[in-house]
Amino acid sequence: MRTLIRGGTVVNATGPLPADVLIDGEKIAALLAPSESVTADEVIDATGLYVIPGGVDVHTHMEMPFGGTTASDTFETGTAAAAWGGTTTIIDFAIQTPGESVPECLDRWHAKAAGVCAIDYGFHMILGGVDDESLKAMDHLVDHEGVTSFKLFMAYPGVYYSDDGQILRAMQRAGGNGAMIMMHAENGIAIDVLVAQALARGEVAPVHHGLTRPAALEAEATHRAIALAQVAGGTPLYVVHMSASEALAEVSAARSRGANVFAETCPQYLYLTLEDQLGAPGFEGAKWVCSTPLRNKSHAGDLWRGLRTDDLAVVSTDHCPFCMKDQKELGVGDFSRIPNGIGGVEHRMQLIYQGVADGQLSLARWVETCATTPARMFGLYPRKGVVAPGSDADIVLYDPAGRTTLGAASHHMNLDYSAYEGMAVAGAVRTVLSRGTRVVDGGRFAGKAGHGQYLPRGLSSYLRLSKEEVAVDFGVVLQTNPPGARVVEYARQAELAGFGYAWTFDSHLLWQEPYVIHSQILAQTRTMMVGPMVTNPSTRDWTVTASVFATLNEMFGNRTVCGIGRGDSAVRTLSGKPATLATLRECVHVVRELANGRAVEHRGATRRLPWAGGSRLEMWIAGYGPRALALAGEVGDGFILQLGDPDIARWTIASVRQAAADAGRDPDSIKICVAAPAYVGPDLEHMREQCRWFGGMVGNHVADIVARYGTSGQVPTALTDYIAGRESYDYNQHGQAGNTHTAFVPDEIVDRFCILGPVSHHIERLSELRDLGVDQFALYLQHDGMDQTLTAYGNHVIPALNPAGLAVW
Ligand code: URP
Ligand code: ZN
Ligand code: ZN
Repeated sequence: MRTLIRGGTVVNATGPLPADVLIDGEKIAALLAPSESVTADEVIDATGLYVIPGGVDVHTHMEMPFGGTTASDTFETGTAAAAWGGTTTIIDFAIQTPGESVPECLDRWHAKAAGVCAIDYGFHMILGGVDDESLKAMDHLVDHEGVTSFKLFMAYPGVYYSDDGQILRAMQRAGGNGAMIMMHAENGIAIDVLVAQALARGEVAPVHHGLTRPAALEAEATHRAIALAQVAGGTPLYVVHMSASEALAEVSAARSRGANVFAETCPQYLYLTLEDQLGAPGFEGAKWVCSTPLRNKSHAGDLWRGLRTDDLAVVSTDHCPFCMKDQKELGVGDFSRIPNGIGGVEHRMQLIYQGVADGQLSLARWVETCATTPARMFGLYPRKGVVAPGSDADIVLYDPAGRTTLGAASHHMNLDYSAYEGMAVAGAVRTVLSRGTRVVDGGRFAGKAGHGQYLPRGLSSYLRLSKEEVAVDFGVVLQTNPPGARVVEYARQAELAGFGYAWTFDSHLLWQEPYVIHSQILAQTRTMMVGPMVTNPSTRDWTVTASVFATLNEMFGNRTVCGIGRGDSAVRTLSGKPATLATLRECVHVVRELANGRAVEHRGATRRLPWAGGSRLEMWIAGYGPRALALAGEVGDGFILQLGDPDIARWTIASVRQAAADAGRDPDSIKICVAAPAYVGPDLEHMREQCRWFGGMVGNHVADIVARYGTSGQVPTALTDYIAGRESYDYNQHGQAGNTHTAFVPDEIVDRFCILGPVSHHIERLSELRDLGVDQFALYLQHDGMDQTLTAYGNHVIPALNPAGLAVW
């Protein structure tokens, strides 16, 4: 059965794009240009609607036992309510308490969920009793049960609480088995003292739940959890239900240090407050008793900011509903007996879309925080979290012109009140598909208990491999066309997709000045290396170039790299000539010495950047001709070959390595980077036209080489023959699809120099290059298929070349 979603705007984490979506059975088969004709058994009209990946809520508690009662949504009612709100995947928490067998507890949760869920579901495991047995069981769950994340509690002494030693042991174990540690970060020991003191003073109303759990104790526990994760060897840590600015500051600081620390927040902390809700008169505030607690009004702005900056990566609900009647009422006269939790699984997508309407988040970030990152974080990507070929057809048609009023009379959760009663939010869920099947359709529930399947999960996409474990690194090469913010966003998306390098062209007349954009890319990414591909000795004073790199290194922790060559567009557009190789050699030396904090002789005097002692910069030399290759081997930290042809790569790599050996260097110490346009798509003719310019660009360099060396002898004919028909070159059309003077470049050269075709072709060519000793493949993302190519690399190509995991965090 083929279904076509026609006329909508697909919104992925990379941004909105008008496209039709073809579904075949349970999977997305293709994203099509809106005008493309295709046959389908059924057409869904999405005109005026956003077509987004189904929401992924990674924090729910269906049927959770708590404080002598049980959360009021079953897996059946809770997953149906989730579907109503555009969430098509949940990850719930199975629970182990001290002395219990972890696998038996997991079985118990499977029994609750099997055969009744309306949408797909997975499990995390709460470890309430960390001991030798449960630690061993962690490995088993990761390896055999698809449970790859474990929640620990620094709160609730005597119930789920783990002490620091237990936490450290679990983190160490996770360091070995690849699991993610999720942390309920509140200092429960101190909180229990404050609770007892409040009750002794007769302070029994619900608001005291919040007042006895101060923000400082969330921040303190967050800080401690981060420190323990660091002591455990940098184990990834995911802090759940973050509500306090002070705790967020701890996460931001840790992330800025490069730690593997992530955090989520929940809609209740963005919209509801201690003053207005938890502090409501009488027992009313019990509706909003949850932990961490609602905070006063000052915090929400920081949380929205955290969502924008990625210090908060995920929005989940912590859906844990208890009815007022018979459940919350257990705490009348004693706030500490009120079961902790708020129901909200149905409303997350809409509440965060309201943030888009309010200007707090971009559309792309809405999808990213509510679907894409949760899927990546917990090992479900790319099956879930993206509208892309090969992914499950979990799709929501979201109407931005709609409006939804939240309330107990209209919601579908098994809950006798709404935490958001009467709140009107922008947008409305129109249709929801789960694996290609309609579960919500125009205001009607069309789902079925039991449609939902258990999702065994892989490891988080955000686990960082050590550099030694990365078989092939990946880079993107971007042209700095305005808007600069878009270039930065592509680099950010590339890092999330597993790319380790972002390179930009460097030609400040043709495009925007790259170094200011580098600064922004560095600010908005975490580990990715950033630099020009390529700069040259003529555009800027060498001391300026070195100073820029050293400054960025100081600000962002040595994350720059300098690609350099003799110079082309940047100098020719200023009517200059490419530098001589002698000048390039001298420039590499001067920039490298200065940008590594060392003194160098330059212009008749000893120069030094006195403040740059901690700066480290590698110089990677780009070239094609025999003498440039020799220079790369003699003095380069890396060599950049700007074309993807394996035959030419073999010859150039051998030349570089030979020159290195001749110069007494270790030939294998020079990193080899092959850079070329890559385009993942089905239409070869179209892709060739989009990338033909590249053959023209390379042709400029080849023409120089032919002029110097002739067409026979030292340079392979594979490189020189095709430029026979070359006439002139206009730099105003440099690096552009549709370049009018690159028609001489034959299809065969485009196919050899670039990588164009389905994913399988990319994997094949890159495997061949890897076997030749290529350390990095940098793909020019300069055509009309940037998004689909980036997504396909993240989903398929990078994992195929680095099967152990992604080189990102
Ligand atoms: O109040 C809450 N959050 N209840 C659920 C349990 C938890 O700590 O997540
Ligand atoms: Zn918790
Ligand atoms: Zn929870």
